[in-house]
Amino acid sequence: MEFLRSVVPFQPTPVISTETVTLRSPSMGDYQPWSELRGASRGFLTPWEPVWPVDDLTRPAFRRRLRRYQREIQEATGYPFLVFRTADMALVGGLTLSHVVRGVTQSCSLGYWMGERFAGRGFMTAAVRAVIPFVFDTLRLHRLEAACLPHNAASIRLLEKAGFTREGYARRYLNIDGRWQDHLLFAIVSDDPRP
Ligand SMILES: CC(C)(COP(=O)(O)OP(=O)(O)OC[C@H]1O[C@@H](n2cnc3c(N)ncnc32)[C@H](O)[C@@H]1OP(=O)(O)O)[C@@H](O)C(=O)NCCC(=O)NCCS
Repeated sequence: MEFLRSVVPFQPTPVISTETVTLRSPSMGDYQPWSELRGASRGFLTPWEPVWPVDDLTRPAFRRRLRRYQREIQEATGYPFLVFRTADMALVGGLTLSHVVRGVTQSCSLGYWMGERFAGRGFMTAAVRAVIPFVFDTLRLHRLEAACLPHNAASIRLLEKAGFTREGYARRYLNIDGRWQDHLLFAIVSDDPRP
């Protein structure tokens, strides 16, 4: 069991690039396209996300967000990525690995969002597939978890295509759109087949 105790050194968030998508950690230079895309997608995203703070799309709030991300990276508890279309490096969405737990658990949680105008084109499936080797081979975690609302057909389909298995149902699991809502629980473990 010695391996469970191994200390994982600071791991900078890498740039992960495939033919379709490129993932990298956000920086202040991303504020303009990020706030534009999130703002234009507000009605598309808010039914599936925690309530946005009133100032969420402002520059100071983005700066605070980056500071929180930086802390998580330093503490090795989270790895935030923005997702770009490799062809022209247009920002298309975001993907976050959070709640990294070591010890006997060795797991983390996956979250994601896609700009409305880029949805349904396979970008997030490509992004999730691309981040899986980072989770299992670089971070050497054992389990990657994701939760989604039972009526989120796009998210369920995406997780299934990326090799996740539905494992459970958690009552009033997350506070989404201002309400504690039931969620489906999905996971992929390190020795699962990767599509
Ligand atoms: C969920 C989300 C990230 C998916 O990103 P995406 O880039 O659109 O996903 P992809 O195009 O890679 O794959 C989506 C799959 O769902 C399918 N899909 C989309 N809408 C669907 C619907 N209403 N019913 C059934 N399937 C649907 C697509 O057809 C595709 O499957 P296919 O390749 O077999 O055709 C994006 O739709 C989104 O941001 N939604 C709003 C916010 C959200 O749900 N966040 C996640 C919370 S868990």
